[in-house]
Amino acid sequence: MTTIAVNGPSPYEVVIDHDLNAGIAKHAKATGADKVMVVHQPAIAEPAAELAEQLRAEGLYVVVEEVPDAEAGKQVETPIRLWDRLGEENFSRTDAIVGLGGGAVTDMAGFVAATWMRGIKVIQVPTTLLAMVDAAVGGKTGINTSAGKNLVGAFHEPSAVFIDLQRLRTLPAQEIVAGSAEIIKTGFILDPVIIERYEQDPAACIDPEGFLPELIARSVAVKAKVVGEDLKEAGLRETLNYGHTFGHAVELRENYRWRHGNAVAVGMMFIAQLSYAQGLIDADVVALHERILRNIGLPTTYEPGHFDELYQAMTRDKKNRHGNLRFVALTGVGNTTRLEGPSVENLRAAYDVISS
Ligand code: GLY
Repeated sequence: MTTIAVNGPSPYEVVIDHDLNAGIAKHAKATGADKVMVVHQPAIAEPAAELAEQLRAEGLYVVVEEVPDAEAGKQVETPIRLWDRLGEENFSRTDAIVGLGGGAVTDMAGFVAATWMRGIKVIQVPTTLLAMVDAAVGGKTGINTSAGKNLVGAFHEPSAVFIDLQRLRTLPAQEIVAGSAEIIKTGFILDPVIIERYEQDPAACIDPEGFLPELIARSVAVKAKVVGEDLKEAGLRETLNYGHTFGHAVELRENYRWRHGNAVAVGMMFIAQLSYAQGLIDADVVALHERILRNIGLPTTYEPGHFDELYQAMTRDKKNRHGNLRFVALTGVGNTTRLEGPSVENLRAAYDVISS
């Protein structure tokens, strides 16, 4: 078992191990809850029922709520339904919610927990690689509205996060590859050993029996350090957006049909090229990005001919200040800097390279 402490206003632990249901149930009981709502996606109804059984065996009253898959589950109708159910079941301030699923579920379950009675406990049990290494850790919760994704939300730290390595065996290979983009991102911003592992043996890095468990732990440790120091994204937490400015623009252009990790991979290639054009990194660091992303099957290029549209999307990025585009960039592996107001010529040049 690996346990990673997350400091901050409400410290908690991320537990990484196999077969965690008993540990989750014990933790839920120890929080002082009498009632627990388990929120899950349709595809994991069976694991949700097993977890519910274990929670009942601890003497807890359990309600199970299935929510629509992916971003559809983050429409405002979902929390409305869950708030209604919490009311019908008389959930009080001391009760708890378990978010069992991908990032959409952990974001939404966290949001419902943050808002019910101004905040009840949430236990996050991420089941996708992306949610394990990113969404479920750090207390960002939110839903989508017609104004955009995650514009309505709250910082609400979980009482614990449980990463069950057993789940990795059930994930499609493409999902492991896409989720790995966020692991690689944490390597580039803060943990060079992660990058070394991808250089050493790319296949082992996406193998649940290979380096993958170690990489998850390393990536969570990076995220824990960052959010422990800067929960509300006043500075350091912005570094977790490495590759995301261009990545979000690609996702928007693709109507969110691209996997998030694939968009982040292309976004990292874009910022690497831009950083090179700005004189921040050498060509070998750009080549390193290309090599490790490509070696595990992540995309490193994007279609030509869409610069203006992508540029427009980047101008709406939440990190921008006073009308200036603002990127998280590298000065080397493990060292970040802020790149503000790059010229449109350099932005276009970076795009031209990754789309040629
Ligand atoms: N996914 C970026 C963050 O948690 O801040």
